[in-house]
Amino acid sequence: MERSGSEGKNSRRKPRAVFLLTLLVWSLLTALSAFTNYRQLEQNFFALARERGQGLFDLMEIVREWNSRHGGVYALVSERNPPNPYLHHSKRDLEAGGLHLTLINPAYMMRQVSDISDDQAGLSFHLTSLKPVRPENAPDPWEIDSLHAFERGETSRLELAGEAKEVNFRFMAPLKITQACLSCHVQQGYRLGDIRGGISVTMPAGATLATLNSEITRMFIMHGIAYLLISGLLLLLYLRTQIHFSSQEAATHMQEELILRRTQELVEANEALGRSNAELEQFAYAVSHDLQEPLRMVASYVQLLARRYSGKLDEDANTFIDFASDGAKRMQRMITDLLDYSRVQTKGEPFGPVSLAEALDLALGNLDLVISETDSRIEAERKGLPTVHGDKGQLARLLQNLIGNAIKYRDEQRQPIIGIQARRQGRFWIVSIADNGIGIEPQHFERIFRVFQRLHGQGRYEGSGIGLAICKKIVERHGGRIWVESNPGKGTAFHFTLPGSEDFGSVQAGE
Ligand code: HEC
Repeated sequence: MERSGSEGKNSRRKPRAVFLLTLLVWSLLTALSAFTNYRQLEQNFFALARERGQGLFDLMEIVREWNSRHGGVYALVSERNPPNPYLHHSKRDLEAGGLHLTLINPAYMMRQVSDISDDQAGLSFHLTSLKPVRPENAPDPWEIDSLHAFERGETSRLELAGEAKEVNFRFMAPLKITQACLSCHVQQGYRLGDIRGGISVTMPAGATLATLNSEITRMFIMHGIAYLLISGLLLLLYLRTQIHFSSQEAATHMQEELILRRTQELVEANEALGRSNAELEQFAYAVSHDLQEPLRMVASYVQLLARRYSGKLDEDANTFIDFASDGAKRMQRMITDLLDYSRVQTKGEPFGPVSLAEALDLALGNLDLVISETDSRIEAERKGLPTVHGDKGQLARLLQNLIGNAIKYRDEQRQPIIGIQARRQGRFWIVSIADNGIGIEPQHFERIFRVFQRLHGQGRYEGSGIGLAICKKIVERHGGRIWVESNPGKGTAFHFTLPGSEDFGSVQAGE
């Protein structure tokens, strides 16, 4: 019961562990997938912004190249287009046909273009250099950083700047000296291919970021749905196995209950049987015991009759008296045997460890005379005889009866040889007593263990025929079983089982 209970718990615990583990793995997988997706989305958006920045930069570079190739471009002087004080050129300002013209260098042009694009699209361009001619062209910290990076070989940079609504991508790439630039910048010591500075493009990122955020939100929602769906399925599966297990457990429980009830009933029936058995035994004992007295009286009066009237009665009367006396003796003998038989159960000693070798010695001691008279040979493997759990007196009696029997039913043609052996079988010992006597026909194998069952006529073998019944009773009292094997004309072997003493934890003498 205990065992199956804890097994039940184990079998419940296992699917729970599997469920939790699967859920954990699934959670980790979902988290990993969400994270990589998030990174991927972000990277894609940055790549797009970089591409856009590069496009605007390229366009601006081309327009500047156009201006440079003209060595600057003349435009009308106005309030918004004053001459550039930093442009040192012999023909910076011109008068032609009443018009005031001034030379617009690429940097100046770009500032004006940037103002327009800033107004119209929030896009602005900043031309800068680590060594600016015009102080306003000085770089900010990020631009300084980027310019140094370009010196080291980087080709472009991108950053996200500003906060909340005013979020911008800033893109920056280097400006290199081309042939066209030299006309104005050669006196500053620049050569072809040098990095003169860079343009940083500022693009509004708000809309792009909003798109990115909604994409990210959508991605997270999709993941959440998938996560909940699969987790729910897992949970369902788990609950199903749980229900399966508990219904199985209930069935097992019911079965166990049933077995318990049936066992209880059996125990009760057994107890009732034992009670009536004991009562019967008590009755048999009492009857045989009480019969002894009147029988003794009958016997002694018949003897008295025989003594007083011998010679005074006729021949017939003498014969009758002999018959009566003989019958009384036989009956006395039977009653003594019957009492013996009852005593196996009612007057037995409590069990303890018994050395079978010692019990055998007791038995052989009692049989000493008959053994020498018949010249019987006893072959006992004393060393192989175990210590068993039982009643020493009864076990000696058992061996004595069986050996006595073997001698009694010997074959007169040969010397009686009786072998005694024991071997282990599971918890039990099987003890065998084999002879080379006259043997028993198989049809009598059952009958010989019953009370007062004799196979042979009165005259030939003495005894009432209770010896083997007593043997059976002793073996059964010890929880064993007795049976016979025989080869008529060749010999008989009696076998009986006894429990080993080690199963009873008793301290064994001499060990
Ligand atoms: C017509 C003359 C002229 C030409 C051609 C010219 N620049 Fe300039 N550049 C200037 C002047 C003048 C300034 C400084 C004043 C200003 O910012 O307007 C300047 C400023 C710059 C600056 C800003 C840093 C600073 O020193 O203030 C860079 C960078 C620059 N030029 C690169 C170039 C490159 C590259 C080319 C060739 C594609 C080029 N320029 C062609 C006249 C010229």
